[in-house]
Amino acid sequence: MSSIPRDGADAARPKVGLPKLAEMRAKGEPIVMVTAYDHPSAQVAEAAGVEIVLVGDSAAMTVLGHTSTVPVGMDELLMLAAAVRRGLRAPFLVGDMPFGSYEGSNEQAVANAQRFIKEAGCDAIKLEGGGTSVDRARAIIRAGIPVMGHVGLTPQTATALGGYRAQGRTCDRAAKVAEDALALQAVGCFAIVFEAIPAAVTAALMSRMEHTTVIGIGAGPSSHGQVLVFHDLLGIYDGHTAKFVKRYANLREEMVRGVRAYADEVRAGAFPGSEHSYAIDPAELAGFHDYLEQDSLAQNSAWDW
Ligand code: KIV
Repeated sequence: MSSIPRDGADAARPKVGLPKLAEMRAKGEPIVMVTAYDHPSAQVAEAAGVEIVLVGDSAAMTVLGHTSTVPVGMDELLMLAAAVRRGLRAPFLVGDMPFGSYEGSNEQAVANAQRFIKEAGCDAIKLEGGGTSVDRARAIIRAGIPVMGHVGLTPQTATALGGYRAQGRTCDRAAKVAEDALALQAVGCFAIVFEAIPAAVTAALMSRMEHTTVIGIGAGPSSHGQVLVFHDLLGIYDGHTAKFVKRYANLREEMVRGVRAYADEVRAGAFPGSEHSYAIDPAELAGFHDYLEQDSLAQNSAWDW
């Protein structure tokens, strides 16, 4: 089985790179980003024709069952990112630096960013916040790795922000979001995620975001693009969803329906049917029955207590 997706994928679609993203921004063409965490979800993103795929640390919650993004580590995200890489051809692949993988020093940040590129085949990395994260972003960019910033609601530090709540809802708090975004733009981030920010604050800030691509999630319609979490938009995840999530499908219901139908058929003896079973030549089968009847076979297979 090929690891390159075929079903629905457009083989002629050129690989999305930084020039393509900048061109789309300049032309005002909306950029679509989605998270993915494994090979099948990457194939779906590929077939759907999105521009950017993020292996988000939201994997901690959507696929690993944690209650926040904090516990996920480098090795777990690298394994998921490598699986996503094998399912993607055209989209630009971003690996999310997990909590604790970049805050310590610029050296730590560069070394872990390099792992996403070398070990998982990512095109870029994402990190959260302003302040010291701006220094980390600068160092990683200087090491030759494109960086996507993330401002507003930054789930890795949600406790310090007062929980999972919208940011920038007062003039001072909006100024803080602007300060972080402008600093990340100034050090050369190719894109910045704006999460859970009033639409009007994003709209006001967009005129200052001339050199970077703004991808919104709960930040209104004025950004250059949008991102949603795969499991949220497809209704796979059974947990709490934020106000900004729109469900485009209810796959969990469909998955439960499918597994329940399978369980019902097994219990009723209806599965597997002859169409799902392999046949054997009758003469071969007769020979096999004779083989099983041999006394020596019974002796050989007897337990030697
Ligand atoms: O981890 C993630 O999924 C993210 C997106 C919400 C941007 O950071």
